Amino acid sequence: MAAASHQAPGLLADRVARFVPPDVDPSTLPRSFALTEPLPARGSVPDDWTTVPRFERTGAGVVATIAIGPNTSLYGTGEVAGPLLRNGFVTEVWAKQPFRIEEDGTAVPNYDERSKSLYQAHPWVLAVRGDGSAFGVLADTTYRLGIDLRDGIRLTCAEPFPVIVIEGASPQEVVQQLGALTGRIEMPPHWALGYQQCRFSYFPDARVRELAREFRSRSIPCDVIWIDIHYMDEYKVFTFDSEGFPDPGGTNDYLHELGFKSVWILDPAVKAEEGYDVYDEGVAQGHFLCDAEGREHHCWTWPGDAAFPDYTRPETRAWWTRRTTEFLGRGMDGVWVDLNEPSPILPHGAELPNELLHRGGGGITPGNHARYHNVYGLLMAKATDEAMKVSRPERRPFILSRSNYLGGQRYAATWTGDNVSSWKHLHWSVPMVLNLGLSGQPFSGPDIGGFAGTPSRELFAHWMGLGAFLPFYRTHNALEGDQEPWSFGPAAENVSRVALARRYRLLPYLYTAFHEAAATGLPVARPLFFADPADLSLRSEDHAFLLGGDVMVQPQLLENGIQDFRMPTGEWRPFALAGEDPATEHAHPILRLRDGAIIPVGAGGQTTEEAFKGPLTLLVSLDATGRASGRLYEDAGEGFGYRDGDYLLTTYQAVLDDGVVQVSIAHQEVSSRSSEEM
Ligand code: GLC
Repeated sequence: MAAASHQAPGLLADRVARFVPPDVDPSTLPRSFALTEPLPARGSVPDDWTTVPRFERTGAGVVATIAIGPNTSLYGTGEVAGPLLRNGFVTEVWAKQPFRIEEDGTAVPNYDERSKSLYQAHPWVLAVRGDGSAFGVLADTTYRLGIDLRDGIRLTCAEPFPVIVIEGASPQEVVQQLGALTGRIEMPPHWALGYQQCRFSYFPDARVRELAREFRSRSIPCDVIWIDIHYMDEYKVFTFDSEGFPDPGGTNDYLHELGFKSVWILDPAVKAEEGYDVYDEGVAQGHFLCDAEGREHHCWTWPGDAAFPDYTRPETRAWWTRRTTEFLGRGMDGVWVDLNEPSPILPHGAELPNELLHRGGGGITPGNHARYHNVYGLLMAKATDEAMKVSRPERRPFILSRSNYLGGQRYAATWTGDNVSSWKHLHWSVPMVLNLGLSGQPFSGPDIGGFAGTPSRELFAHWMGLGAFLPFYRTHNALEGDQEPWSFGPAAENVSRVALARRYRLLPYLYTAFHEAAATGLPVARPLFFADPADLSLRSEDHAFLLGGDVMVQPQLLENGIQDFRMPTGEWRPFALAGEDPATEHAHPILRLRDGAIIPVGAGGQTTEEAFKGPLTLLVSLDATGRASGRLYEDAGEGFGYRDGDYLLTTYQAVLDDGVVQVSIAHQEVSSRSSEEM
């Protein structure tokens, strides 16, 4: 066939082009869920545009192939286990609670590097060419999509889809453009950057209180205690166990008095039980997913037989928002939304049938589950975010969502799901967080210590040591075994204490990195190759990584042996924050400061509130010319004043002058309001 392999592409923005299969009328394509707003073409692409997808029809549907040149490294594809570098891997964009098949054939709800699909759905590939220039490929579809990276980029979908290509002089430019198109995180509250303690489940209320007291009596920093599903009455969403949690408002008050915040879990599935008001109301108002004959669909989840809300309906989202707002009236500080791939619990591997109907409305056209499955988590997170905004308009929402879709960072942070207490999973924490960051989601982290199984003392200590430098720092585990910082004896407790001291001292710098993510779309945790995208030797480094632009983190993540790290050019000087010595205690990553950088660190504390109040220290690493510079972002750490300019962005500079280092403020961005007040 000599026909064109695609239609004349449209230029959506500078160096952003959309390609549509030749036999498809673009006006018939479904709306984009990834883009924050519809992007009409503004012109045609320049003649020298090189990255062009070739569309063809096969038995499997529509295939788009994009050839890559030699030394092109591929990343992204969202939440994937295994190495950072994705060349040679096949991923399926299909949100899923993964199951691992054990040697004896039993299915266990975890994952490994062979799992093609995990909880999140990111139809996105980042390609870094040999010369360090880059491009990104966004398959703008919510349907199941195959991403085959064994020979270039091959995308397969049963339904026609457009491909958006972003060109950039560097991977940083492409990732920032992805943020501009699909949205960026909002500034999180300070406390969300603190250490968080979770368990499936802390129960009853007295255990939660005891845990809170224990953190304070042992002087171990902690900001958040998480309440998992046992607080509910028989796992029924929006209910409370009358014996275990008779007064959830009182539980929250108690935590608040000790300086903690609380995050409580909500699952989407509603127990199908007449007389349970949430279910009865859902039935009466038509909120649940039904099949083509209009029969409500039920699956087996935590509470047993349950119905799933149809979040494509604006009325259902409004209902969820209302119910969640009511729930939040008891003083919860954040919400954790789970099982929203959506996942039945039994039988293992079960999914909602593709034929179920989503009724949509308000700009979302009716469609089947095959079409809306991948955005179920995003729509649930959006409705929950709305509830947080309605119930406390003066405070920043915090939502953690297990499932989400490309662009969903607008509504929720995430974690890497049900991992395992193993050294492999400890290592994967790094590439998983990095690839999520390269896919637009900068706010993520693993269950520290592993969700399934019990870590050894050594493994737990290494995970605590590493987690201090990942964006989201939460310990979580399943029913068996205690997993608190003191559960593995004094040596691991001591490592945890030092790891936490390092985290809490670094908060001013970390918060500045979050500000950069919110403002530009750059990840908080970044791959080492960002330091020099043209240096091919850095492309597969996925033990060491960068935090923001100036700090390198070199963790030891091997059970046996010592990891050697690739190093970019330049002087990266090691520094200590809490008297740690990574040379003798390998659980603590080595931290290095880029030459030419200045970073702000605080005095630490038991909570983020304390840590952000303390005095600042500037760490300065002069470059070969005797100069350095760096930035500090500050705001109230809560509320939205920063949007009206209530923040301070300071640029520091240092110069070596006649043997003396002179540090000064080079620039200070202040709001018009506060400068008027001054
Ligand atoms: C799921 C979540 C896990 C949670 C459990 C009980 O497995 O991934 O984090 O603890 O459900 O709610």
